[in-house]
Amino acid sequence: MLKATHLASRFEPDVDLDLVRAGAMLHDVGRSRTNGINHAIIGANILRENGVQPEIVKIVERHIGAGITREEAELIGLPAMDYLPITLEEKLVAHADNLIHGTCEVDLDFVIEKWQKKLGRKHPSIQRIIKMHKELTGHLR
Ligand SMILES: [Fe+2]
Repeated sequence: MLKATHLASRFEPDVDLDLVRAGAMLHDVGRSRTNGINHAIIGANILRENGVQPEIVKIVERHIGAGITREEAELIGLPAMDYLPITLEEKLVAHADNLIHGTCEVDLDFVIEKWQKKLGRKHPSIQRIIKMHKELTGHLR
């Protein structure tokens, strides 16, 4: 949560910090059922079932990496829809999560290398994360 609110501070007063905090605290609630990539979807469903406000549900549903397109979702067996973070608060929680590995803060180079190993050097999500990093931090790297 600290990383997300730290990133968010750049955008005050135009960011909903309560929403960022809530999303950051709840983003991995789906890991109570699975550690698969679908923990975002399962987490979102848990929150929906419990009447949590839609803005928080969307943060949870869209927090994987720099988002997953509908086409990518189909390829990896997720329900066919876009999971791209759209709002500032959704992007902040997703990217703060990218920049934490275990309990350690990591830089963009670390994240890119990790994803290239996992997904391949030219996977479109690599460019998405670089773009999101620039948008949220103001830095290229
Ligand atoms: Fe997660």
